[in-house]
Amino acid sequence: MKEMKAIVLAAGRGTRMRSDVPKVLHEILGKPIISHILDSIREAGITDIIVVTGYGSGLLDEKLKDVEVAVQKKLLGSGDAVSAAKGLLKGYKGDILVMCGDTPLVRSRTIKDIISKHRGSKASATILTAVFKDPTGYGRILRGAEGNILKIVEEADAPLYEKVIDEINVGTYCFKAADLFERLSEIARNNRKKEYYLTDVIEILSRNRNRIESVKTDDPDEAIGVNTRMDLARAAESLKKRVLCEIMELGVTIEDPSTTIIYPGVEVGADTVIRPNTIIESDVRIGRNCSIGPFTRIRPHVTVGDNSEVGNFVELVRTEVGDDTKIKHHTYLGDTKVGNRVNIGAGTIVANFDGKNKNKTVIEDSAFIGIGARLIAPVKIGKGATVGAGCVVPKGHNVPKGATVVGVPARILRKK
Ligand code: UD1
Ligand code: CA
Repeated sequence: MKEMKAIVLAAGRGTRMRSDVPKVLHEILGKPIISHILDSIREAGITDIIVVTGYGSGLLDEKLKDVEVAVQKKLLGSGDAVSAAKGLLKGYKGDILVMCGDTPLVRSRTIKDIISKHRGSKASATILTAVFKDPTGYGRILRGAEGNILKIVEEADAPLYEKVIDEINVGTYCFKAADLFERLSEIARNNRKKEYYLTDVIEILSRNRNRIESVKTDDPDEAIGVNTRMDLARAAESLKKRVLCEIMELGVTIEDPSTTIIYPGVEVGADTVIRPNTIIESDVRIGRNCSIGPFTRIRPHVTVGDNSEVGNFVELVRTEVGDDTKIKHHTYLGDTKVGNRVNIGAGTIVANFDGKNKNKTVIEDSAFIGIGARLIAPVKIGKGATVGAGCVVPKGHNVPKGATVVGVPARILRKK
């Protein structure tokens, strides 16, 4: 995208979270708030991103690998936070997207809408707004008789007749960089909070007859700002629904959405049925026509092929499962590669961790693992092999192709 940069304001501590961890590191469906925002910005096509950090800035480093970081030394408000990024934008004449670091649900599509409205109208500023049934806590959008935006007033500074306004400031804006920094130097400290409000720039622009545009989201949940643990839970609930809807639209049945949690980015093939109380975490791919759950936990880095079953009380992590394979009850598989047409008996456990390292298990095509088997990794069960019920296969004791092993420790009963 031409001449477009973004600033994300993430210096605040998030006092109302009552946490030692910076607010933007709190997770929603397995991903920190800041990463949700950065992903949306990147998906909208913006690659030049500056994140303003302050409280606990060192803790954020790992999440801020591909962005520039500006440190706000004293937390003097959102206006001051934008000023902290100024040094990194010397000579920059393009447009700039500014986002609060605590609004994780803003979609990339919405960011694109703001940018195209901003560019199409040649505005100085374009503001994302939303209409809330209960706007308490948010900045209100004040409009003139013609619908033009006059200013944004913060809750604490709003008289009663402004508090009734239900259109709120989401905290996502697009500015002409030159206009933003010119007006930013003119804002005064707010009397009550002793902070520099970014939102005060809007009033100055409007007074100077600079064009101010807005985009109103039709999904108010997109505007949720996370200030408290309750907000965090609301954001998670909303994102959860969004993800489930996207998956159902692709032809997946979710028997009980209220007890199903699927993290963003999970792929599920058509005609797969997800049964109640299932959780599927990040980086998981499930094929077509599978049955998952009830009461299944699929942790990160798992793939499941087509026509396979993963049933109740099964936990999978860093595991690849082939097609037409059944893992129906009470099983743990970690760091395991399972082939096609495999049957994993109830209660099978893979011991992938030896106290120091995570080791791999391979179960080849058409193998049959009896109930209650223990496979101590690293170990390989050959193609078509049978592991008897209750058998313990020690590490390195690979079971040859077609063989049957039984007992504790496993010994070969039959070779093919
Ligand atoms: C802000 C907006 C409000 C809007 C709401 C939307 C202002 C003055 N108000 O209010 O109009 O409706 O977001 O959620 O901007 N930050 C810094 N440095 C600071 C202060 C804040 O980086 O010194 C960052 C915070 O980390 C946060 C963001 O700016 O990500 C917003 O700050 P916050 O204190 O949450 O503002 P709100 O009161 O929610
Ligand atoms: Ca906030």
